[in-house]
Amino acid sequence: MTIAVNNEKLKKWVQEAAELCKPDDVCLCDGTKEEYDRLMALAVKSGSATPLKKRKNSFLFRSDPSDVARVETRTYISTTKQIDAGPTNNWVDPKELKEIMKKLYAGCMKGRTMYVIPFSMGHIDSPIAKIGIEITDSPYVVCNMHIMTRVGNKVIEKLGSNGEFIPCLHSIGAPLAPGQKDVSWPCAPIEQKYISHFPEENLIWSYGSGYGGNALLGKKCLALRIASVMAKREGWMAEHMLILRLTSPEGKQYHIAGAFPSACGKTNLAMMQPTIPGWKLETIGDDISWMKIGPDGRLYAINPESGFFGVAPGTSYQSNPMAMDTLHGNIIFTNCALTDEGDIWWEGMDGDAPKHAIDWKGRDWSPEAKEPAAHPNARFTAPASQCPVISKDWEKPEGVPIDIFIFGGRRASVVPLVYEAFNWDHGVFMGATASSETTAANIGAVGNLRRDPFAMQPFCGYNMADYFQHWLDMGDRLGNKAPKIFYVNWFRKNSDGKFLWPGFGENGRVLKWMCERVDGKVSAKQTPIGFLPDENDLDLSALEIKKENMSELLRVDVDAWKAEIPDIEKHFGQFAERLPERMKKELEALKKRLG
Ligand code: OXD
Ligand code: MN
Repeated sequence: MTIAVNNEKLKKWVQEAAELCKPDDVCLCDGTKEEYDRLMALAVKSGSATPLKKRKNSFLFRSDPSDVARVETRTYISTTKQIDAGPTNNWVDPKELKEIMKKLYAGCMKGRTMYVIPFSMGHIDSPIAKIGIEITDSPYVVCNMHIMTRVGNKVIEKLGSNGEFIPCLHSIGAPLAPGQKDVSWPCAPIEQKYISHFPEENLIWSYGSGYGGNALLGKKCLALRIASVMAKREGWMAEHMLILRLTSPEGKQYHIAGAFPSACGKTNLAMMQPTIPGWKLETIGDDISWMKIGPDGRLYAINPESGFFGVAPGTSYQSNPMAMDTLHGNIIFTNCALTDEGDIWWEGMDGDAPKHAIDWKGRDWSPEAKEPAAHPNARFTAPASQCPVISKDWEKPEGVPIDIFIFGGRRASVVPLVYEAFNWDHGVFMGATASSETTAANIGAVGNLRRDPFAMQPFCGYNMADYFQHWLDMGDRLGNKAPKIFYVNWFRKNSDGKFLWPGFGENGRVLKWMCERVDGKVSAKQTPIGFLPDENDLDLSALEIKKENMSELLRVDVDAWKAEIPDIEKHFGQFAERLPERMKKELEALKKRLG
């Protein structure tokens, strides 16, 4: 079925893009299974995808070794004034950046098809949803967008003749000369990659990369960077947060939204099965949360995505059985290893490593190899609907009411297992100063400590100090209906470098404490950094954990916290006069409490 596009803005934009990029063909995507199957068949025929014998309708792609993760150094927030992008974003003047990129886009789709993907972030009927149109020359991107967003004719219908959409222009930046043979993962060299955002006109231009958040523009570019700016303008929130529902043995539901940096266990927590009897967890989203204040004054969240783009290495029946069960079929794997039986494998999967495999670079691999078989940022793209614990309400147009916010990161020391904010401003301060060791989700060094406010450092589309103010403003509007705020650290280690907390399903014990705090059912002790549980307040029944581990996990090391202050001051200092007074006050109050 062909559908008439009668949106003039869309027609004009597609025509301009085609004139600039000069594709051989233009294809309007309809989001159907036939379309997906046709593009996958092409990818298999061209050698860029390997069908997996052991998993129904599943395929493995191997990227170019230079194109394996988001590239924060090549990601730009291009505003008229640099101060509006703020000190945490790369900035180039919009005119200059467009000139550079137009030169790159000129003829960049020669020899290729230009796909026009109409997609909705959020269920099409949700009042919180937004429409985007991605133009891309990558069939891999089209198939991933089918899973990660809602693609299809319904979007064009909803757009009508004058509906608004967010234009997202993407090219892998690898035109083909007549007769030139394609490579299996075409992309441009790093210095030609640009992941650019023009928030003043809600516009995204991405060039040169085919990987993840650089190329699936609904995710980080639209749903976080551009949406964060729209949310500030329009009075809602776009956050790098999982969403889950926890139900107590008495049947009371709690909704939790949690912000953790990339590759810090958001997907695991979003699907975690609590070990404590009677408590049930359901998944609503694993990466992004869009939240608006509802008619009752509470904050309602939707997951704007419809799939999971999860980090594969480390995912196992021990760490995330629900994710493993989600992956039974209909999955796109990227940069995983291929076993001789025709299945995928990655480091940290259950059982023994295969004796032989083909690694993510397409080379023979055995356990003796010096390099891992799967890239540390290898991914699976999976339909959210396949998750065995997806909530029946995960697509509810109005969203779910949030009771609890959690911030966290990877910290081997200093930060205790859990603590609670004294109040909203203190919670915003906790989010604003959140820190974590860096991971392979971005191209760059792994394991360095960095401040990652609200896990939004790579994703905030405007001056981060104004974003702190937005959080304060939202708190003022929510008043006593605001969610309670907590901070967690599952990653504290002992002096031998071993994790002190068992993690995974046992994290349910910590979530239970939070729910009981919401209900005022359990006590907490006041410390200089916030409210902490007494060991007796946490439900540790049937958990074998050494007493000294528990004391260390809940220890507030005042000297170590004092030693953090100069780094927090430096972090805040970069925002100069844009830093909200209320954040300065929180820092002074913390200093005073630490003595
Ligand atoms: C992601 C990321 O892919 O945060 O979700 O990098
Ligand atoms: Mn993420």
